Amino acid sequence: MSFKIVDQAPARMNRSELAVPGSNPVFLEKAAKSPADVVFLDLEDAVAPDDKPQARKNIIEALNDLDWSGKTVSVRINGLDTHYMYRDVVDVVEQAGDKLDLIMIPKVGTAADVYAVDMMVTQIEQAKGFKNRIGFEHIIETALGMQNLAEIGAASPRNESLHFGVADYAASTKARTTGIGGPHPDYHVLTDPDSEGNRDVHWGDMWHYPITKMVVVARANGLRPIDGPFGDFQDPEGYKAQAFRAAVLGCEGKWAIHPSQIALANEVYSPSKEEVAKAKRILAAMKQAQKEGRGAVALDGRLIDIASIRQAEVMVKKARQIAKAEKAQAAQAAPAKGKAKPKKKNK
Ligand code: GLV
Ligand code: MG
Repeated sequence: MSFKIVDQAPARMNRSELAVPGSNPVFLEKAAKSPADVVFLDLEDAVAPDDKPQARKNIIEALNDLDWSGKTVSVRINGLDTHYMYRDVVDVVEQAGDKLDLIMIPKVGTAADVYAVDMMVTQIEQAKGFKNRIGFEHIIETALGMQNLAEIGAASPRNESLHFGVADYAASTKARTTGIGGPHPDYHVLTDPDSEGNRDVHWGDMWHYPITKMVVVARANGLRPIDGPFGDFQDPEGYKAQAFRAAVLGCEGKWAIHPSQIALANEVYSPSKEEVAKAKRILAAMKQAQKEGRGAVALDGRLIDIASIRQAEVMVKKARQIAKAEKAQAAQAAPAKGKAKPKKKNK
C-alpha cells in the first residue's frame, strides 16, 4: 500500500440513480416513493428553458414537503456555461439546502468549475447555518472533463461520485452515434476467415475506455463511479448487459431514466447470493491458511492469496451494506403499529 491514505466518500447506497424532471410535480411525488437508492431532481436537460424558474420552485417544494427518508436526494443544476446555474444554486440551497444530500454538476470540465460551485455552496451553508454538508456528484460528459478527470476527482472534499454521461460525451467527442448508451454495430472487428472463408463479427464496447478511466479516478479519490443512462427503456436485457459490464469494471450503480430501470439496477448492483457465499468461503479458507502459516492455498482448484481476502471483503461488505439499507427502507415503508404514517415530512 502507498503511504497516502485515500479518504472515502460517505458510504451511501448508489445502485440505482433515478432521473426526475423538476418540471413535473407528479413525477417528483412518485420519485420520493420509488425504490431508487438515489434520486436526482433535474433542472438541466430534462427541463425546457422557459420552465426552469417553475422547476426550481417545484424542486424546493418537493425537498421541503415530501418524505425522502430512506434515500439520497440530489439536484442536477445547470452547467456553468449558462446563466441558470447561479440561480439554481442560490435558490435551491438557500431555500432547501438543509434537506439536500447532493448537488449534481453536469458537464464539469475543470477543477475550477468544482471550486466555483464549492465556493457558492459553502457561503450559503455558512450564512444559513446549515448543519449538513452537501456533497457533489460530477457528470463526466465532455472531452474536456475526461481530459481533466484526475484534477476534477480531487477538486473538493465535497466530491462523492463521478458519473459517465454517455449521451453528452458522444456529442462532445463527435462519436458517430445518436443512441444513448449501448453498443454500436459499426464498432466491431472481424475474425480471420476460417477454412471455408467465413468470418465472425465481434461487437466491441465503444465506452470501455471512458468508463474504465472514470473508475480509476473515482477509486483513487475514494469516490463512487456510476454508469450513466441507457436510453432504450423498452430493452431491459440491453440495460442489464450494460449495467453488468460496468459493474464488472468497478462501477457501483447506474442511472435509471425510467422507473422500470430502478429494479434492474438494484438487482445488477447487489452481489448475488452465490457471489457472497463464495467470498465468505474465500475468507474462511484464508483464515485457516493463515493459522497454518501459509500465504496462499487452493480453493476449488484455483489459487487464492492475501489479495483474494481484499477482493472477498469488498463483496461481503457491500452485501452487508445493502442488507442494512434494505432493512431500513422496509422499516420506513411499513407504518409503525397503532400510528398513522405522516403523509409528508421534513427530513
Ligand atoms: C447525461 O447527462 C448524459 O449526457 O448522458
Ligand atoms: Mg448530459
